[in-house]
Parts: sequence; structure tokens; C-alpha cells
Amino acid sequence: MNIAMIGTGYVGLVSGVCFAEFGFQVTCVDKDPEIVERLSREETTIFEPGLELLLSRNVRESRLTFTTDIAEAVGSADVVFIAVGTPSRRGGGEADLSYIMAAADEIAAVMQPGQVIAIKSTVEVGTNEVVRDRIRAARPGVPFSMVSNPEFLREGSAIEDFMRPDRVVIGAEDDHGREIMRRVYRPLFLRDTPMVSTTLANAELIKYASNAFLAVKVSFINQIADLCEKVGGDVQDVARAMGMDGRIGAKFLHPGPGFGGSCFPKDTRALASIGRKRGARQLLVEAAENLNEARKLDMAERILTQLRAEGGDTVAILGVAFKPNTDDIREAPSLTIIGKLIEAGVKVKAHDPEAMEAARKLLPGVDWCRSAWDAVSGAHVTVLVTEWNAYRALDLRRVSALMAGTTMIDMRNVYSPAEIAGTGLSYHSIGRASIQG
Ligand SMILES: NC(=O)c1ccc[n+]([C@@H]2O[C@H](COP(=O)([O-])OP(=O)(O)OC[C@H]3O[C@@H](n4cnc5c(N)ncnc54)[C@H](O)[C@@H]3O)[C@@H](O)[C@H]2O)c1
Repeated sequence: MNIAMIGTGYVGLVSGVCFAEFGFQVTCVDKDPEIVERLSREETTIFEPGLELLLSRNVRESRLTFTTDIAEAVGSADVVFIAVGTPSRRGGGEADLSYIMAAADEIAAVMQPGQVIAIKSTVEVGTNEVVRDRIRAARPGVPFSMVSNPEFLREGSAIEDFMRPDRVVIGAEDDHGREIMRRVYRPLFLRDTPMVSTTLANAELIKYASNAFLAVKVSFINQIADLCEKVGGDVQDVARAMGMDGRIGAKFLHPGPGFGGSCFPKDTRALASIGRKRGARQLLVEAAENLNEARKLDMAERILTQLRAEGGDTVAILGVAFKPNTDDIREAPSLTIIGKLIEAGVKVKAHDPEAMEAARKLLPGVDWCRSAWDAVSGAHVTVLVTEWNAYRALDLRRVSALMAGTTMIDMRNVYSPAEIAGTGLSYHSIGRASIQG
């Protein structure tokens, strides 16, 4: 089985590496020559736990190659995956499908009869049919199968998610497409992974509905956290007990500074936009989107309030990636929060174990620090934004001693009140009572 992967970003690279690990012959294509060059010499282009090892092994064992030449990859492929980006269109919520259409045109020019073309990118309902018709028009009479195969991996645990997904969704129109996809995912079915075989449109909808549902869940618990703060509740207890209910589930019930990343914000916007366009408004999703934007601004405001109370001008930010174990900062809450602080004239010192290189370009004016200790030194307020393991067991007495002020804002509820006692810190978290040092 030969696989071509068009687009070698987070999804394309992880999928390509994992398919090669299954034993398939995989050629990954990217239009960015630097990405292709680095990956060819076994250098990872993204931070993802476990990726480096699998990349090296499969390149060395000649199951995985990288190229900028789409003809080289598509020529001998049984299945061609499209894993290019579908960012939000500028000024509107809908997904920008121009990369998908460009990839489709490039594939059409070099495809062979009988190939399966599978869109892995997250795309608007109807896109697979549009791409199918576009390729048919470009290559009349050349048979191929169109398949929608949305991806559900999470950054930070992408390899594990790809290898052990909750389900594989295959939207197909013919038996050939379904059969080839069954063969591609056979190693997972041997591990009893359920496969949902459905239509192209359903597969597209399943992906958006899943992401939007999780985003709504996050916004819901954030609102409950706000209420807890007003009525003297503790959102940790509330969320834990809610999560024990099998109908609700414990995942994505963690209050925080708002959701971010390359998927939730753009996918909720896209689903809301599809709903408006098609006459079925997704009001819950629209509310989650609006609440999330407001939440990031509220977080910045909380920091400014504490800074004023301290009478200081320096804030330490711990963590800028949108979540731990990734260097991805796309739509990370930290971008809005730090942007607002800089706008207000605050001196921002920041640290992140992996994401500083990416963040540096987007956040001019920040003093990037070599360690968490450097960041908190001289700060009036310390803010824990991303719950990296490295920040989970900080010596809080040392934090307090290094700071110029005494306020810590823990936006991920990493610490418990018992751990704060005696450190001299005034501690503010999410959905719980504050502790005055
Ligand atoms: N990142 C995630 O966690 C995740 C999870 C599930 C689904 N998705 C979806 O998967 C898709 C890809 O997301 P991503 O985060 O991997 O994107 P990305 O931006 O990291 O990578 C896209 C890559 O495609 C390349 N590319 C664009 N056009 C190309 C072309 N014509 N030929 C060859 N290469 C081309 C770009 O150079 C880039 O390297 C999106 O639709 C996204 O919504 C992402």
C-alpha cells in the first residue's frame, strides 16, 4: 500500500509518520521546501511527544520520504490524503478552502486511474463533493474514489491519538473507496477501533459537531466557574462531581482562560457560519464563540486589576502555548492576554518550555526568559497560563522570594490552597475563593 500525504503540518506529518510506522510506504508532500529539507534529515518541524523517534526510524527504514514534488508522491499512490490547512477566512467565520482547492487541482493534474482521494483536513459541508466535481471536470473519464476522512488527533498527544483513536470516520461514495480505507486503517481495527462508515456530508459534519460540542463544554464550565466565584463555590468540586456522571463525562470540564489552538476557535466559527448560511443557526456554538472572546479579555482585566493593587508594572507569564506539550500558539489565549497587557504599558516577562520561538514573532515587546525563575524575578504579578508539567510543582516559596510583588494568578487551577499556605503569595485561581498572603 502506497500513501501520498499532501501537506506536512501537524496533521499531515503525524499521520504520515504513523502510517509509515504501520508498515506502509508513505510520501509526504509540502510546498514549503524548508519543511521538506528538515524532515528529510530527520529533524522534526513541530514539537510533539514521541514524534522524533518515529520520524527517524521510518526515514531510516525507507518507509517515509518527503518531497516538494507532488507528481513523485501521487504517481504510485493507492490513496492520496489531503491534509493542508483550512484557516478562518479573513474577516469572516467561514473556512478558507483555497489550499484545499489548490491541492485538488495539483492532484488532478498528476493522478492515476483508480486512486482514492481522501480529505483529512477539516472542511465545510459539501466540500468533498465540490472537490470531487472539480477533479472530474479536470480529468474527465479518469475513475477515482472520493473519501472524507476527518482527523481527531489532539496536539500534545497526537501520536497516541492517531494510534488509538476513539473512532475512525470514513465518508465514502463507493465500495472501492471504503475498501482501500479499511486496508489503510486495518492495523487499528485489529485493536478493535470502531469505524463509522457514512456519507461524505455526514463525515464532514461529524468533525465540526464534535469540536464545537467540546468548545461549548469548555465555555459552559467557564461560566459555572464565574458563578462559583460569586457565590463562594469551588468549581473543582463541581466539575469533578459533574464529570462522574457517565452522561456528562469528565473531559473538557476544566475551567481556564478560554479555549485556543488551531482547531476549536476556527471550527466553532466555521460551524456557526455554515449554520447562518444554511438557515439553521447554531446559537449555542455562537454563544461559546462570543463567550470565549470575552473570556480572554476578562483574563487580561483580572491581571491588570491585581497589578494596580500591587502598585507595580511587571507581569510574569508562565506558558504561552495554547496547551501543554505543543509549540503551537495559534489562537492561544496568551496572545490576547499578553497583547492587552502590552497595550496597557505593562512590562511582560514570559517563559514557555517549547513555544517561545513561535511566540517571539507574534509578541514583540515581551522579555523572553530562559526559565520560569528568570520570568518571575522582579514580577509584581505571576500568571500561570499554560499547565506545562514544569510549572506544576514550582517551589512557591522561591517564587514568592524572587518576585517584587506577592500576587499569583493560576489560570489552570494547578495549585491547591494547602500548597499556597505559608508561601507569602496572594493566590487567585479560576472558580475558587482567593487566598490573601
Ligand atoms: N492541528 C490539529 O490538531 C488538527 C487536528 C485535527 C484536524 N486538523 C485539521 O487538519 C488540517 C491541517 O491542519 P494542520 O494543523 O496540520 O495545518 P498546518 O498549517 O500545520 O499544515 C498545513 C501544511 O500544508 C502545507 N500545504 C498547503 N498547501 C499545500 C499544497 N498545495 N501542497 C503541499 N503542501 C501544502 C503547508 O505548507 C503546511 O505545512 C486543517 O484542516 C485542520 O483543521 C488539525
